[in-house]
Formats: sequence, C-alpha cells, structure tokens
Amino acid sequence: MDRKKLTIAIDGPASSGKSTVAKKIAHDLGLIYVDTGAMYRALTYVALTENVNIKEEQELLELLKRTEITLKKEGTGQSVTANNKDVTEEIRQNNVTNAVSIVAAHSSVRQEMVDRQKKLAENNGVVMDGRDIGTVVLPDSDVKVFLVASVKERAERRHKENTGKGIFSDLEQLKKDIAERDYKDSTRETSPLKQAEDAVRIDTTKLTIDEVVEEVKRLIEKVSAH
Ligand code: DC
Repeated sequence: MDRKKLTIAIDGPASSGKSTVAKKIAHDLGLIYVDTGAMYRALTYVALTENVNIKEEQELLELLKRTEITLKKEGTGQSVTANNKDVTEEIRQNNVTNAVSIVAAHSSVRQEMVDRQKKLAENNGVVMDGRDIGTVVLPDSDVKVFLVASVKERAERRHKENTGKGIFSDLEQLKKDIAERDYKDSTRETSPLKQAEDAVRIDTTKLTIDEVVEEVKRLIEKVSAH
C-alpha cells in the first residue's frame, strides 16, 4: 500500500490523548494531521466574538459558510485560522471549551464540517482526530483507533496542559466538565461519540504517549503489509 495515501482515524472522548498521538504519527509517517475539534472550536470562537447565538442552528450555519477555517502545520504543532485571523490560542480558552459542545450538536453545522473534512482527505494521506472520524467522516479509513482513559486521568492531563500554558485551571472542576462533555458528546442526536465497529480500542490510562504511538504504528504496519 502507498503509505503516503494512508488514512488513519483517531476518535475518542476529550483529553484521551488523541491529538498528541495523531500529531506524532502524522509527523513520523509524513501524513497530514487534521484536528477536526479545532474546526468546531474555531467556529465557536467566531460565533462568540460576533455575538451569534450558538443555540441558533441556522445563524451558525450561515456564519460557518462565510468562515474559512484553515489548519496549517507549524513546527511540531498546528496553527488554526478563521478568515485569515490566527485563532490558535483563542480556541483553547475556557469560554470556547465550554460552548463548543453546543455548536457541535447542530446537524447542519456537522454536515458542512464533515464535507470540508472529507475534502481534506481527498487524494491525501491523513491522520484525522475527532469524535466521528471512523464512523462518519472516513468510514473507509485504513486504520481506526478509539482512545479512552479514565475521567480522573484525563482531568489530570488537561490540568497539566492548562497550567503549562498559563490558563487558569481547577482540577475538580475539570473532572466535572470532562464528565459533562462526555455525556453531551455521547448522547447528542447527530453523530454521537461512538466507537466504530471496526475500530481498535486502546485504553491509554496507564500508557505513555510513546506506548500508544507504538501501538497505533503496529496497527498501521499490519495494514501496510497487505
Ligand atoms: O477534541 P476537542 O476537545 O478539541 O473537540 C472540541 C469539541 O468538538 C468537543 O466537544 C467535541 C466536538 N467534536 C465533534 O463533535 N466532532 C469532531 N469530529 C471533533 C470534535
């Protein structure tokens, strides 16, 4: 198989390690990394900035249609723009994190995002992370993984990340927020967070990032050998 055209889907709940793992694999294998959560976050940020009511599906959809979102590789990370404005840092702030589940629950908004995400994978090898990649966006991807970890472990990871970035962080609140976001993401009507039948589930609670990366690479080797 042509390794450059490999498509890898990485799904799982918030802070399960998806983006760190996806970024590393994309880097090591020379594939494009697509952080689909960043796209929902970018739209949320623009809506909050422009005072668009995030509960109004039609208004949000119209806003999305006039908002170009780009993801660009920058060093080992990725920069995100919305209509050419760099929003990489803004989209990680708490106000966006707390509002994004509402934005991501609107089915027409999801449809437009899914269309854009499918286009990004056309003719490209990609590692894409999100919630519905293996089930909806790239149902024919070569490798599908579903990463999980306990709420406690995920809250601790996010706490470290926030503190490292100088973002205010309260561990107990994070545990509550993560459990609530899990609930919202997995019970929404459109494309709830759900493991694809043919995805490999990896519990990352007790694994290091490198161990998870190695595990995913083993799965990629298996399909590449065919
Ligand atoms: O992975 P993240 O925390 O950056 O995702 C932000 C939000 O977007 C999260 O609440 C779930 C939602 N999301 C989604 O519904 N579908 C995706 N493919 C990616 C993210």
